[in-house]
Amino acid sequence: MSDHRILLSEREIPKTWYNVVPDLPAPMKPYLHPGTLQPAQPSDMAAIFPMNLIEQEMSAAASIAIPEAVLDILRLWRPTPLVRAVRFERALGTPAKIFYKNESVSPAGSHKPNTAVAQAYYNKEAGINRLTTETGAGQWGSALALACNLFGMECMVYMVRCSFDQKPHRRTMMQAWGAKCVASPSELTNSGRKMLSEDPDSPGSLGIAISEAVEEAAGRKDTNYSLGSVLNHVLLHQTVIGQEALAQLKIAGAYPDVVIGCCGGGSNFAGLAFPFVPEKAAGKKVRLMAVEPTACPTMTKGVYAYDFGDKSGMTPLIKMDTLGHDFIPPGIHAGGLRYHGMSPLVSLLHRAGVVEAASYPQLKCFEAALKFAGAEGLIVAPETSHAIACVVDEAMKAKEETKDKTILFNLSGHGHFDMGAYEKYFEGGLEDYHYPEEKVREALAHLPRAS
Ligand SMILES: Cc1ncc(COP(=O)(O)O)c(C=O)c1O
Repeated sequence: MSDHRILLSEREIPKTWYNVVPDLPAPMKPYLHPGTLQPAQPSDMAAIFPMNLIEQEMSAAASIAIPEAVLDILRLWRPTPLVRAVRFERALGTPAKIFYKNESVSPAGSHKPNTAVAQAYYNKEAGINRLTTETGAGQWGSALALACNLFGMECMVYMVRCSFDQKPHRRTMMQAWGAKCVASPSELTNSGRKMLSEDPDSPGSLGIAISEAVEEAAGRKDTNYSLGSVLNHVLLHQTVIGQEALAQLKIAGAYPDVVIGCCGGGSNFAGLAFPFVPEKAAGKKVRLMAVEPTACPTMTKGVYAYDFGDKSGMTPLIKMDTLGHDFIPPGIHAGGLRYHGMSPLVSLLHRAGVVEAASYPQLKCFEAALKFAGAEGLIVAPETSHAIACVVDEAMKAKEETKDKTILFNLSGHGHFDMGAYEKYFEGGLEDYHYPEEKVREALAHLPRAS
């Protein structure tokens, strides 16, 4: 019998990040300056990002070397295990083989530290000692808090109000790693105060929290901003996941028919799926499935257009799948999937037909997560449960068609701080929400005029 847990040695952590840019089917549209609507220059971003990360953001190199100091920290939990979910396969009664890449073993409990460590490192190299950021579910905020702590830097986190209330222990975790965490919208910034004056009970959104974190970074010389998803350099740093998975699948003698990841801003999905893009272009029959909530259906109901990355219109305009920067999603428990936009790289590949998108309602996701917990033991984050709902559908299709199929998915995080969400599910207090078309049309009416 072959091993079900496929482990690599520390020496086998990838030494380079894979950059999908040269393998895109069409060139990426440039970011636009929010004032002039002309292509943004590196200097336009220098107020909030260090030049070494701006260079990565704009790089067309096929791969980029991972600095030794970053590898040194990644070794704390990488390579992560690739696991064949045999008991889950049995529970579903499917002929499909199901593999998952377990990113929940990082100290913060998700894939997010892969980029947090790299971003903290490059900022430190550039002489910056303080970072601001936003967080939805709290996973990204804790990842950056961890990374800043490891590099002896300060960290300020604006946490979306509804998650701040739902997950007090994520806040404590950030505090344990030396970071400061406040609820967004806050009284600390102009964007926050404006939002609170319009709606004192605002549940917040990632768009608002980004405005606050960017505003603070732009206004302080000692401070930069760090984003946990969406941008090219963030996705780049996550590609260690897919590269390791390819090596591990080779050991297992398997190759996926479908690669599945849940999608908030796109970095978790891209981290696993992008290293498969050149394989697909070379003729491998592999489907790449990005999964989002029906409550925040960026790819499945949004449009492909230039839009701001934040609520207040401070970021460059990005050509992406978007629901409109005014969009405030309902307070579903998968806080990390409540973003109005999508990574421009994932959006481009989606519109080119390289990446497929699907949306799932939260009750079906919790059901799938509990089935998985019953078989494999792991209680996943509500974000991850979206990927598992899609895995279940793919596995059941294989069963109906009595077909061999290999499914690979990213187990992006554990749900140990999400018991409030599970509790609500058990009490019957959760509802499905399908974002109505007319609300999408309303938010889209405020898109900036750029093409
Ligand atoms: C556990 C988990 N999985 C997935 C995601 C979505 O990540 P991304 O924005 O990279 O798509 C998040 C975001 O916070 C998360 O916390």
